[in-house]
Amino acid sequence: MGCDLPIGVFDSGVGGLTVAKEIISRLPGERIIYFGDTARVPYGSKSRETVTEYSRQIIRFLISQGVKVIVVACNTASALAVDVVRREFDVPILDVVRPGARTAADATQNGSIGVIGTEGTIRSGIYSKLLYGINPDLNVYGKACPLFVPLVEEGWIYDSVTREVARRYLEEFQGKDVDCLVLGCTHYPLLRNLIRDVVREVLGEGVTLVNPAVETTKDLKFLLAERGLFSGGEDLPEHTFYVSDGAEKFRSLANSILPCNVIETKDVTIKTFE
Ligand code: DGL
Repeated sequence: MGCDLPIGVFDSGVGGLTVAKEIISRLPGERIIYFGDTARVPYGSKSRETVTEYSRQIIRFLISQGVKVIVVACNTASALAVDVVRREFDVPILDVVRPGARTAADATQNGSIGVIGTEGTIRSGIYSKLLYGINPDLNVYGKACPLFVPLVEEGWIYDSVTREVARRYLEEFQGKDVDCLVLGCTHYPLLRNLIRDVVREVLGEGVTLVNPAVETTKDLKFLLAERGLFSGGEDLPEHTFYVSDGAEKFRSLANSILPCNVIETKDVTIKTFE
């Protein structure tokens, strides 16, 4: 295994770019190969079997590109598929839910934590399980927010419709005294400012928003150090972006999210990686 090999990052769409962004700014020497499964987004409403099979295909594709490690930059795939695919492939696979749970357990002062995510992630109960494993005295409240992903994929990031949707979802936490809210879907940090405003309106001041991408990148750094896999390159690497549909639309959204210029996004027929 060579150090100059790329890091594979994947999600159902543009959400994983919030994780890629964190990796690019904290590990600037590392080259990323990103895959967004735009033909099959959203994952949040799909079954465990389907999300696991999609994840397998993407991991096979990323391995065919010679990646040294894979970051599952999707909470839904982390919740539903990671345990299985980790046993099936030799490449190290990192998820976003464990780092997210750790960050939330550290961030809460009063032990009351809210988690927002896709239907799949919330139904799996993964955040509650992990958080109660860290501290059984915590109170964890989950809320599925299925409309957020299509709104983000449409680029409706500052829209009044999105604000109203957020208000309806976040009102569910009223009276629960949460002082920490986990953005348990990698699309949600793109709505961070809007969510922060709405949280202030409906829940008051003093609620910390947790983006699992920060701690995930620390885990990645630790893994690369432990295995001697840091890239030795001096120059800023050129990242590569693949999608399963709508390459041009993805490229323009990616350019509004990432701190680097996304020159080209390529289409891949991901089903052939069965
Ligand atoms: N961004 C993903 C997540 O973190 C998937 C969202 C979806 O496709 O429903 O859960």
